[in-house]
Amino acid sequence: MGGPVLVDADPGIDDALALHYLLATGGWDLKAITAVAGNVPLPRAVANARGLAALLGIERDVPVYGGCPKPLMRDLETAQHVHGDDGLAGVFLPWPSVAERPEHAVWVINELARWYSGELTIVAIGPLTNVAAALILDPSLAQRVGRLVFMGGAVNVPGNTPPGVAEFNIYVDPEAARIVAESGMPFTMVGLDATEQSKLSRKQLENLEDSSARSGFTREILDHYLAVYEQSRGREACALHDPLAVAVAADPGWVKLETGNLYVETQGEYTRGKTAFVSQALREESPGLDPQLGLGQVALGLAREDFAGHFVATLDA
Ligand code: BDR
Ligand code: CA
Repeated sequence: MGGPVLVDADPGIDDALALHYLLATGGWDLKAITAVAGNVPLPRAVANARGLAALLGIERDVPVYGGCPKPLMRDLETAQHVHGDDGLAGVFLPWPSVAERPEHAVWVINELARWYSGELTIVAIGPLTNVAAALILDPSLAQRVGRLVFMGGAVNVPGNTPPGVAEFNIYVDPEAARIVAESGMPFTMVGLDATEQSKLSRKQLENLEDSSARSGFTREILDHYLAVYEQSRGREACALHDPLAVAVAADPGWVKLETGNLYVETQGEYTRGKTAFVSQALREESPGLDPQLGLGQVALGLAREDFAGHFVATLDA
């Protein structure tokens, strides 16, 4: 696969890894990076995306646009305890040498989807606020996007936000996730069911060469990310959440996909952001359900072993 792609991100350590990986595959025509509030507040997400574009050598070709500063209906909750105060573990990034773009990410998403109608892939690796706002502005976006692949959700596994029910990106803006899921946009959800199986160990990190500025940066942020996992979960491996979503956009064979209906919980007392999934097979036994509501693909596990090995090999190539 490949073709025009837009990455909507809240960088974020694994967002940075995902961008590095996407470029290293050489298979995509990256049209824009849109930033959203999530792991860090919006101004920091924009600054990080711009710094990453400079580091990765794409800042003259790939514009960065700022989007929504908070979830649609809630206050922002960040994940700076995981990614560091600045979102990228305090590791030095080059200063951008191109001016900040004034256009709003939500407008850009709609423009690119019009320009590349039917062809554009969106890989969303933060809360879905920008994508949902773009749909509110123009609901026909759902018919123009080739496919949305988003990192988010947890179906048969625990979540990673208290009380352990919902995944972070969906928890932060469940209303946005619900709007997107129910919009009719073709989507593939890559959530914790798959990404928690895509673990990179400290030993694998040591195999990553660090001769260039970008690989040195990637090693340093991964070192911090692994330390967070070691301290919080007592294990010497970290999940490659956002890079796996990028990989699935190019090759769905990485994951076990099922088609069915996705329901995002926005009201629950303990279940804010929970993603409930009813597979197509089960749906046939539930005649009361609208078969189109929330229809999409959901990754329920990894289909191949050693995504982390492929990830390291791709960055090194
Ligand atoms: C997701 O939450 C964020 O902290 C990560 O960047 C990733 O997108 C994992 O739950
Ligand atoms: Ca992210």
